[in-house]
Amino acid sequence: MHLACSECDAVASGEQIFCLACGGLLAFTIDPGDYDAPRLRATFDERRLSNDPLDTSGVWRFRELLPPIAREHVVTLRENALPVYGAALGGSHADATNASYLHLGMNPTASFKDAGMTAAISHAKASGAKVAVCASTGNTAAAMSAYCARAGIAGLVLVPAVGISASKVAQTLDYGATVAAIDGDFDRALEVVRSLDPSRVAIVNSVNPYRIEGQKCAAFALLQARGWRVPDWLVLPGGNLGNTSAFGKGFREALALGFIDRLPRIAVVQAAGAAPFAKLFRDGGEMVPVHAQTTATAIKIGAPASWRKALAEVRASRGTVIDVDDAEIADARAVIGRDGIGCEPASAASLAGLRHLRAREIVGRDEDVVLVLTGHVLKDGAYATAYHESHAPFANRIRQTPTDALLRDLIDEVTASRV
Ligand code: F0G
Repeated sequence: MHLACSECDAVASGEQIFCLACGGLLAFTIDPGDYDAPRLRATFDERRLSNDPLDTSGVWRFRELLPPIAREHVVTLRENALPVYGAALGGSHADATNASYLHLGMNPTASFKDAGMTAAISHAKASGAKVAVCASTGNTAAAMSAYCARAGIAGLVLVPAVGISASKVAQTLDYGATVAAIDGDFDRALEVVRSLDPSRVAIVNSVNPYRIEGQKCAAFALLQARGWRVPDWLVLPGGNLGNTSAFGKGFREALALGFIDRLPRIAVVQAAGAAPFAKLFRDGGEMVPVHAQTTATAIKIGAPASWRKALAEVRASRGTVIDVDDAEIADARAVIGRDGIGCEPASAASLAGLRHLRAREIVGRDEDVVLVLTGHVLKDGAYATAYHESHAPFANRIRQTPTDALLRDLIDEVTASRV
């Protein structure tokens, strides 16, 4: 396994975050010839029966495919023990018969960020880092704070002063990190973090290649949970685009090793007010940053750092990139709730996106589709409450305390509303 620039191929060391030659993002590469792949896949499957903390983690179970980190430095909260749920109502909302949810919100800090953070903070600990820093719309912050607490590393997060979920800030404070609200949006916060000296602080945004290595394991964990059966499509929300590049990398490595015989097609869904990647995919050219606006605050990002890597992955998978508006996201989120699952707003871009892809016949009705849910429903309680106080199609309002007679009517009404 070696680390090099993803753009100019210059060799890099684990102490860098960006390429010293061209400033590009770094990436690890495996050499499939280094592995006895059938034996390795069998080992991964055997480890699902083990109680070793490293094996119960859906990241470290795949440790041979990760940059080596000594066991005593591994900081794990048993991340990525991931459920895949049938998406009955979600499927009918999108006119798709064979959809399921991969719920990355069922992680220790309730978002997909834990899978990357266990790798980044373990590396930081192994390197003797004293402080870790990130810019965040909230979930990276919470994950970093928790893993820092476990590692004995101080955490500092830069968040936009307005427009992020209060639950995420509370969670971040609870685990012990310092929160600094900056006068600006996520893109500004990331700019500030990128200007820091990586020899003084561990920068753990998804520009950190260890983050991507951890997150690529969600692809392995998904395939493993499905008996290594490849879905036709993976649909996921896109913001800074680290997760798209991580999933793409995971699937490509699984293919290169012969764990699977084809790649799933990756569909990235952005919020319409924060969709520079969808525009670039449609129109070609370079990334043109936008001033992001969306109520799906987790993906309110106008200058995605990993767009080059993500574009290569989407193309390699014969995938696509689209955008959906905030009202569509809101309704899709409510439908996912009614499947008894729930997720935060940004996550529901996946289902809203599938509805578009079905309407345009880009995805066939009976194709096998995995919708990635990136964050838990409780990540943004205020958003859910506001939705249910509105008159939106799937809103379910709180009623006044009923009298006995009204209660009987209400029970009849509730019974009739069963789907
Ligand atoms: N979904 C959720 C719930 C997120 O928190 C994020 C990103 C994304 C999707 C997009 O993933 O950036 O890899 O394309 N949240 C970051 C944060 C930016 O700071 O928590 P991406």
